[in-house]
Amino acid sequence: MAKPDLDELLEIANEVGSAVRAYFAENEDYGEIISKREKDVTRKIDMFAERALEKSLEHHGLCARIISEELGDHVFPKGGTPSFTLIFDPIDGSTNATVGIPFFCSALAYSPKTAAVRFSDVQAGIVSTIFGRTYFAERGGGAYVDGKKMPRKTVGKEKPLFSIYVYGKSVPPKLLQLMRQGVVIRALGSIAIELCFVAEGAIDAIIDIRGMLNGYDVAASIRILEEAGGIVTSPNGKRLEGEVKNVFDVPIIAALDPKNHKMILEMLR
Ligand code: IPD
Ligand code: CA
Repeated sequence: MAKPDLDELLEIANEVGSAVRAYFAENEDYGEIISKREKDVTRKIDMFAERALEKSLEHHGLCARIISEELGDHVFPKGGTPSFTLIFDPIDGSTNATVGIPFFCSALAYSPKTAAVRFSDVQAGIVSTIFGRTYFAERGGGAYVDGKKMPRKTVGKEKPLFSIYVYGKSVPPKLLQLMRQGVVIRALGSIAIELCFVAEGAIDAIIDIRGMLNGYDVAASIRILEEAGGIVTSPNGKRLEGEVKNVFDVPIIAALDPKNHKMILEMLR
């Protein structure tokens, strides 16, 4: 069975992205909850994006193992023999989507393997945003936003910009100090897009100490940030390891510049 190349994966991601954009523009009830899971809910827009991926695979005549947030680990078309794996977060930034803030994305990670897909097995990552930008990277091939290589130049940026997520945790005093020191803070509500912003050089670092992120949230965007030269680890400096589908509730520290990354790890120590 055929495996898609990067161009075909981009076509698939763009088909899903266009369908989600149209659905968001044409409907008002996209945030309606249609089922509840142990820790989260599934909304109309999540299921729409899941079905959009299936339609696209059908259109391309491909059979994949899909590890997705809403439908879990499954094969599409059902009963087929998959020749690759897609890790899919249909909507990352669902709170934004639900309240109508146009800042969310669909995130697609690709591995040519069909069993035990670890972070190191992710060959390509694509993040299709609701506002139209597409971020992508292939292992060893660099990272791009709308075809332009990342990181890109930011002209006129004066202050460091950090995305900081702390809720539910006591905030280490040094981190509080940093937050008071004039670092510009942006917690934008879609970790996949924020990791891509770090890859671009727009955001300097992400500090998420909550321990609430899952493998499918970040598999695609970690590949993108690493290909741009950035680094993502846990607060004790370890890269995310293990099978992506078994990674739940993790904290992350991400930065493009290793000096920033080191400074944050030391600050949290
Ligand atoms: C959420 C987003 C958000 C992060 C949450 C995630 P979801 O993913 O990535 O940025 O703060 O922890 O759960 O639920 O929209 O797929
Ligand atoms: Ca999601």
